[in-house]
Amino acid sequence: MSRVTYIIKSDTACALRVNPANLVEGRMDVVLDFAVEALRASKEAEVYIVMAGCGEYLVHIRGFEATTTELARALSTGNIRIERGSLRDVLRALQGRGVPLYYLHESGRWIGDVDVPRDSVGFIVGDQDGLSVEDEDMLGSFGIPRLSLGRRPYLSWFIAVILSSILQRRP
Ligand SMILES: C[S@@+](CC[C@H](N)C(=O)[O-])C[C@H]1O[C@@H](n2cnc3c(N)ncnc32)[C@H](O)[C@@H]1O
Repeated sequence: MSRVTYIIKSDTACALRVNPANLVEGRMDVVLDFAVEALRASKEAEVYIVMAGCGEYLVHIRGFEATTTELARALSTGNIRIERGSLRDVLRALQGRGVPLYYLHESGRWIGDVDVPRDSVGFIVGDQDGLSVEDEDMLGSFGIPRLSLGRRPYLSWFIAVILSSILQRRP
């Protein structure tokens, strides 16, 4: 069974302050909208959200189709666990399981020219400001190549939608 792993990293969202009534604070909306769309794309999808707005925290979500507000509520009430963890931890764990990883960025190689694995694959996406140079360097040190969905920069949650559409249309 094919499984797509989506990873989003935010340098502004604070995992200790998830307020369903104000998701614009720290641009929590960016990571939650992304997760909602990624999880809606397939029952097999899993999402890692890395939030570094106040320390580094990690959320791992699978099989949770919900609205953005419902997801925020699940986080704020502890129904979805928030734990300590970094982007590096996620990359190590996934590479340790043999999951091929790609960094999605408009400057990368056009996805149509790449034979993206079908069994199990992971995609890393930045927040409203993109990934920091330090994080991009780290992805480079993990040997993670860049893939592009086109030369225009899209909002993060658009990426989940466009990517799942491309993956589903593959013959
Ligand atoms: C709103 S964009 C960030 C824009 C930011 N100004 C930058 O320069 O990275 C959010 C994220 O979506 C992904 N992304 C946006 N457009 C893309 C594209 N055309 N192809 C692949 N990934 C893209 C990147 O991971 C990016 O960090």
